[in-house]
Amino acid sequence: MSVEDELLKRVDKSKLPRHVAIIMDGNGRWASYRGLLRSAGHSAGVKTLKKILTVAVNINLEALTVYAFSTENWKRPHSEVDFLLHLFSEYLEKEKREMHEKNVQLRFLGRIEEFSAGIQNQIRDATTLMKNNTGVKFNIAANYGGQDEILRAAQKLASKVSIGKISTRDIDAELFESELDTHGLPPVDLLIRTSGDMRISNFLLWQAAYAELWFTNTQWPEFSPEEFVDALNNFANRDRRFGGLGS
Ligand code: IPE
Ligand code: IPE
Ligand code: MG
Repeated sequence: MSVEDELLKRVDKSKLPRHVAIIMDGNGRWASYRGLLRSAGHSAGVKTLKKILTVAVNINLEALTVYAFSTENWKRPHSEVDFLLHLFSEYLEKEKREMHEKNVQLRFLGRIEEFSAGIQNQIRDATTLMKNNTGVKFNIAANYGGQDEILRAAQKLASKVSIGKISTRDIDAELFESELDTHGLPPVDLLIRTSGDMRISNFLLWQAAYAELWFTNTQWPEFSPEEFVDALNNFANRDRRFGGLGS
């Protein structure tokens, strides 16, 4: 049996989360600790993402959402932002065929319209290529902020009210969700953050309302398929109560 098969055998398939979200943090620190430029950490992080997506495909996960660039990440030095955008574009170009072969459904969350026309075209091409796929729903949050997403949803609903398309009373959780970038996806069951910081950093604020949280000190470039499986198996043993009395 291959190492990969051994690993997949370890996954508790009976209680798999439907939707896993990951805050891929620690690229910069991983690089600095090694005397490398932060950009080297981001490049190494892309390799980790490839491996984790492969596990998600192999275990037939319903949805995987990764935080690639936040609405606050523009505060970083120009050179780092430029590098990240370049890496993002390279990643899409290099990976879209393989993702398509793996039947991945690709979606982007966030203010995509603020990216360059070139990147927007790449995003459009990649999502169009995969639009009829039926496998893992892979969502990349880029120029994404949870508060921004909620505000945009509120604005869309307010304008529907103002033109009389809906009334204020129609606004319930279901209608609100239909205006979020994640519309149609199940809520986040498991939220993973690498690199030791225990915060949400404006990720999926609405969707992670009842997510189980899993933090690890491992920096994203070193996060392995084995540790991903540990997180999944840890999830399988959580007692989720959703405000009730649980099982
Ligand atoms: C996560 O790693 C990647 C992005 C935010 C784009 P960081 O770049 O935040 O790395 P640290 O947290 O500074 O180590
Ligand atoms: C969150 O990480 C954003 C991404 C992983 C893309 P940050 O590194 O930006 O978060 P803070 O600043 O430590 O909260
Ligand atoms: Mg960080």
